[in-house]
Amino acid sequence: MLVPQPFADATLTRDDMGFIAKLVYEHAGIVIREHKEAMTRGRLARRVKALGLGSVAEYCAFLRTPGAVSEIPELINAVTTNHTAFFRERHHFDHLRKDVLPKLLQERSGRRGRIRIWSSACSSGEEPYSIAATSRDVLGSRSDVDFRILATDIDTDILERAEAGIYPSELFERLPPDVKPLLKLEAAARGEARISEDLRRLIAFKRLNLIEKWPMGGPFDVIFCRNVFIYFDTQTKASILDRFVALLAPGGFLYLGHSESLPQPHPQLRLIGRTIYERTA
Ligand SMILES: C[S@@+](CC[C@H](N)C(=O)[O-])C[C@H]1O[C@@H](n2cnc3c(N)ncnc32)[C@H](O)[C@@H]1O
Repeated sequence: MLVPQPFADATLTRDDMGFIAKLVYEHAGIVIREHKEAMTRGRLARRVKALGLGSVAEYCAFLRTPGAVSEIPELINAVTTNHTAFFRERHHFDHLRKDVLPKLLQERSGRRGRIRIWSSACSSGEEPYSIAATSRDVLGSRSDVDFRILATDIDTDILERAEAGIYPSELFERLPPDVKPLLKLEAAARGEARISEDLRRLIAFKRLNLIEKWPMGGPFDVIFCRNVFIYFDTQTKASILDRFVALLAPGGFLYLGHSESLPQPHPQLRLIGRTIYERTA
């Protein structure tokens, strides 16, 4: 049986599509191309419904009014793509475990040293929890090093879910048996499991827009920026990349997503593995 789709037939006009694309680009740096009309319309339908409007055209008309400024974050939440997974692109976590953390621990422990990792487009939390699980396993219970993960995203709805750390249990059933126990799952409501408090407290979740000013000073030993550059144009990527390099400790690492690369070679970044870059100086 066909389920009625109230807004599916109201195609966005070229003008409205251009207007939405411009707003999203200005506020999030995300490039929405014209051929993504159906996908964009589907995502906006959520806001149409929440605001009690009749069509996406009405929603666009509303967005054009001065009173709609407070709707912009909701618009951005609606259009972001949040697809992610625990231990996605496993080679980064293996590199962190074998080549990064043992060396950092040797350098920093005993001197109240700090280790800082940034998950810069953390979505619903699977990435920072995978970092926390890997790191806790290497760190054990040692307290002679100050270890913290910063996890940020532009999308406030998804950040709330990330911070709660509660997921459908079936997500964990598909995980390789060597990594699943590292998440130290606690029972939650029926059919759900929660990431343990021990891992949750290693992470600070904050809203951060990569194209705006960043409040933190760094340095970070590792920055994860995976599967978000694909939504940006070359100019935006280059500017964010320069700021990542400035925040990375010399010898620190930047991980990009599987289909991403540097917009252009960077004098201070050296490719040392699959989408793994090291800050050289
Ligand atoms: C596809 S998810 C990637 C999640 C995770 N890094 C991974 O690789 O599995 C992309 C994330 O980037 C976020 N994002 C998009 N534009 C952003 C921006 N300007 N600043 C910060 N985060 C942004 C989205 O909200 C979304 O959660």
